[in-house]
Amino acid sequence: MSVRLVVLVSGSGTNLQALLDAAADDTFGAAVVAVGADRTGIEGLARAERAGVPTFVERVGDHPTRDEWDERLAGRIAEHKPDLVVSAGFMKILGPRVLGAFPVVNTHPALLPAFPGAHAVRDALAYGVRVTGCTVHLVDAGVDTGPVIAQEAVPVREGDDEESLHERIKTVERRLLVETVGRMAREGWTLTGRTVRLGTGRVAAGQAADGPTPGRITK
Ligand code: GRF
Repeated sequence: MSVRLVVLVSGSGTNLQALLDAAADDTFGAAVVAVGADRTGIEGLARAERAGVPTFVERVGDHPTRDEWDERLAGRIAEHKPDLVVSAGFMKILGPRVLGAFPVVNTHPALLPAFPGAHAVRDALAYGVRVTGCTVHLVDAGVDTGPVIAQEAVPVREGDDEESLHERIKTVERRLLVETVGRMAREGWTLTGRTVRLGTGRVAAGQAADGPTPGRITK
């Protein structure tokens, strides 16, 4: 049985594409069952449509309050019964309804806890670091503060600008996201305190039907 993924996007969706491509192979262990977005007219949604994956859009501005957006988004995600939600370039802070209902994995283009937030690549360049990278982490209520699952370093090159560095990070990021989500799906995972361990248990598939806690969370 495949682990069910709902992927959330806000932009070009190349991380989503990497997951779609990986999931085309049955041995990956996970399937993208829906793609959600906070805006229309983005390449991420077009990629889902080309792959025949259902999509939904919930824009913050279409709801009277952010809480109502959060509740509606949680409902839209739940319709697809995901075992795991992947935030792949989703540029909104998720609220308590979504985070309380599903485990969420995010990919971030810096080595957290350095350079959280929406301008991680620009901030790393401005600081003058020689090495940056990417982080795949579980999402908690903070901004890029959740437990780290995987990280990989990317050197900053002489003459890099935000675009060139981000593109080089994204090449690594796509591979790391696919590897990490694949392992979580195939081998299971546990969270103890802030420590995420892969390969420690049962595969998460099918648990969404019984409750909101795929993987095992051991406090
Ligand atoms: C990624 O670098 C992600 O970490 C960041 O935005 C980028 C999204 O790229 N938050 P894409 O939409 O997957 O191409």
